[in-house]
Amino acid sequence: MKRVITYGTFDMLHYGHINLLRRAKELGDYLIVALSTDKFNLDMKHKKCFFSYEQRKLLLESIRFVDLVIPEENWEQKKSDMHLYQIDTFVIGDDWKGKFDYLKEEGVEVVYLARTPEISTTQIKQDLKSNK
Ligand code: CTP
Repeated sequence: MKRVITYGTFDMLHYGHINLLRRAKELGDYLIVALSTDKFNLDMKHKKCFFSYEQRKLLLESIRFVDLVIPEENWEQKKSDMHLYQIDTFVIGDDWKGKFDYLKEEGVEVVYLARTPEISTTQIKQDLKSNK
């Protein structure tokens, strides 16, 4: 069984997220999403989420490509997660290209997937604000 992991905030879930999760699952048999907690988002990513961690988790758990949701609480946990969850493939969107190559040293494959163009949580928020 090939185990895949991805990390992110997934606030106001949109089709760009679904595309990413679908392609991530296609890389293996079991997909884990490490979901950024509200505190991690606020303190480290300087993002205030519209939906709480529990709400974002509920949405992700309802998606058929997702097998398990775990909390992402800091930048450093990735290394140990690879071993704890016996990961074969780490995958993330190519806005992070090159940033997580160091995980190859933990024996995992690192894959950057092309982002779906023209959609992001930030974009949705901006568009709603300007009544587009
Ligand atoms: N993602 C993607 N295509 C998009 C938007 C996001 O493939 N159009 C991917 C990201 O590359 C990441 C995952 O979805 O691997 C979660 O991204 P996240 O940062 O939570 O979503 P964004 O919509 O980019 O949110 P923000 O605008 O707050 O950065």
